[in-house]
Amino acid sequence: MSVLVAITGRDNTKLIAKMQSQLPNIRIEQLDDCQDFAGVEFVLAWNAPTSLWQKLPNLKAVSSFGAGVDSIDLSLLPKDVEIVRIVDEQLATDMAEYVLTHVLAQKLRLKEYYIKQQQSEWKPKRAYKYNQVSMLGFGELGRASAHSLVSNGFKVNAWSRTPKKSTIATLYHGDEGLTDMLAQTDYLVCLLPLTSSTEEIINKQLLEQLPEHAVIINVARGEHIVEADLLDALNNQRLRGATLDVFASEPLPSEHPYWLHPGITLTPHCAALSDLDSVIKQIADNILRLKAGEPLINCINKQQGY
Ligand code: NAP
Ligand code: GLV
Repeated sequence: MSVLVAITGRDNTKLIAKMQSQLPNIRIEQLDDCQDFAGVEFVLAWNAPTSLWQKLPNLKAVSSFGAGVDSIDLSLLPKDVEIVRIVDEQLATDMAEYVLTHVLAQKLRLKEYYIKQQQSEWKPKRAYKYNQVSMLGFGELGRASAHSLVSNGFKVNAWSRTPKKSTIATLYHGDEGLTDMLAQTDYLVCLLPLTSSTEEIINKQLLEQLPEHAVIINVARGEHIVEADLLDALNNQRLRGATLDVFASEPLPSEHPYWLHPGITLTPHCAALSDLDSVIKQIADNILRLKAGEPLINCINKQQGY
């Protein structure tokens, strides 16, 4: 059995060295140097080329190198191939810190003051009183973010696909639940997986259900947002602002209107990056489980796509 690292757009030397030290008896190959595709049973993938999957007749499992699996086109994989993802405490802590920071930044008008500083303008204003955060998605990262928001005095609502129980948030599900939640939202945080049911969920119809002072914080995937609808809502003061970490096209093209928009704060898909030392253990664990014929951990539901 061999393992293929098919992570594009970064240098994988350190990652492979760390994996090899945990798995001394397993052959680990890089996509560009792979000599024996037929020997590959496990792939660690991030933005792998779609042409890869048809070259792997003995593939048994694919692990995403992140929490999301949307860069793996499930329709190109045989039904019996397991898909696993990263579920990691450090990733959840980083996401919770990012979400809390950016909710606070919006509450304290930091973007406004940043723009005023560039014009040497001194104009103090009280912070907004708004304190209701609604989460689209209440999974691993949504729950961690909710905990840190609640500890910092925010009231949290959350929307999931299936009904859930929580002692820290008011929960909603289904179309009706979403409408109810949007009406009482000051900050809308998107932490949904990207699937056919969630793509373009932040569109004109959803934005019209938010109060005009609301802010969008998207830390999930760019494709959750209809860009023209978001820009239209911001330009017509039907939305106060947006903090965006993820984009349909990454890196965000230099001519994109988001870059210079006064209502948008953006960061380069860095809210929660997989930390090698933290995630390597679960990846190695799954490889050893596959070798031993044991059930893998952190499997997705392939039917639901997340
Ligand atoms: P997760 O544990 O799988 O949770 C997903 C949540 O979304 C669940 O609560 C799920 O509902 C809900 N959901 C899924 N489909 C839905 C639908 N159609 N309607 C309503 N709710 C739906 O995922 P996670 O680990 O929290 O990660 C979420 C996403 O964050 C990832 O998929 C990834 O795209 C993104 N991410 C971004 C960064 C970054 O740096 N920006 C880093 C890591 C991850 P149920 O509870 O009912 O299943
Ligand atoms: C990052 O975006 C991830 O899905 O882990």
